[in-house]
Amino acid sequence: MKLRFFGHSAFEIVTQAGTRILIDPFLDDNPLSPVKSAELTADYIIVTHAHGDHLGDTVKIAGKNTTVICVFELANYLDAKGLNTHPMQIGGAFDFDFGRVRLCTAEHGSQTPDGEYAGLAAGVILSIDNQSIYHTGDTGIFGDMKLIAELQPIDYFLVPIGGNYTMDIQDAALAASWIRPKWAIPMHYNTFPLIEVNPQDFVSATARYSVRARVLEPGEAIEL
Ligand code: NI
Ligand code: MN
Repeated sequence: MKLRFFGHSAFEIVTQAGTRILIDPFLDDNPLSPVKSAELTADYIIVTHAHGDHLGDTVKIAGKNTTVICVFELANYLDAKGLNTHPMQIGGAFDFDFGRVRLCTAEHGSQTPDGEYAGLAAGVILSIDNQSIYHTGDTGIFGDMKLIAELQPIDYFLVPIGGNYTMDIQDAALAASWIRPKWAIPMHYNTFPLIEVNPQDFVSATARYSVRARVLEPGEAIEL
């Protein structure tokens, strides 16, 4: 499968079978993204929580053949806007045609840009084409990440490093030491002045735990 980074916490996955999945598609107002919403289509959009920098352009991109996967309360909000949704909840998993999706804890808030309650913020663990990807969403560090690592091996750990709203580099490196992925990939940094960091410092910080980290440039795609 192919993983493409758009900057911030926005990613695209294209599976071996050609299913297109977007995660947190914050593009049009994302100063880092070289790709804008009009250039993308999706079979599925996974939204970790309702903050504008994660819900992003979901409503613009979702077409009649798109299913949005998110927690129940946010799904209700998107249903009312005419989108097709698949509601889930923290700790639940479901086998979709492209692979398995599990929602997990994120220590964070969730409210829509227009001020509506949107349930709990979530992380997401994807099992696709015999590989696993854990996108934490926005979160502070929490000890139950050790439980997540115990539930299933994680190949790719997409983790926020920008601090202020989420984990910073040191916290994210400690989390990576618990998850022990094949690769840790930093996200949620340098989009705004409050979250400016040098991502190479994350590579050094994880190396001290013998975990490899890879910094993706916005627009860069890698084969998993
Ligand atoms: Ni947030
Ligand atoms: Mn955020």
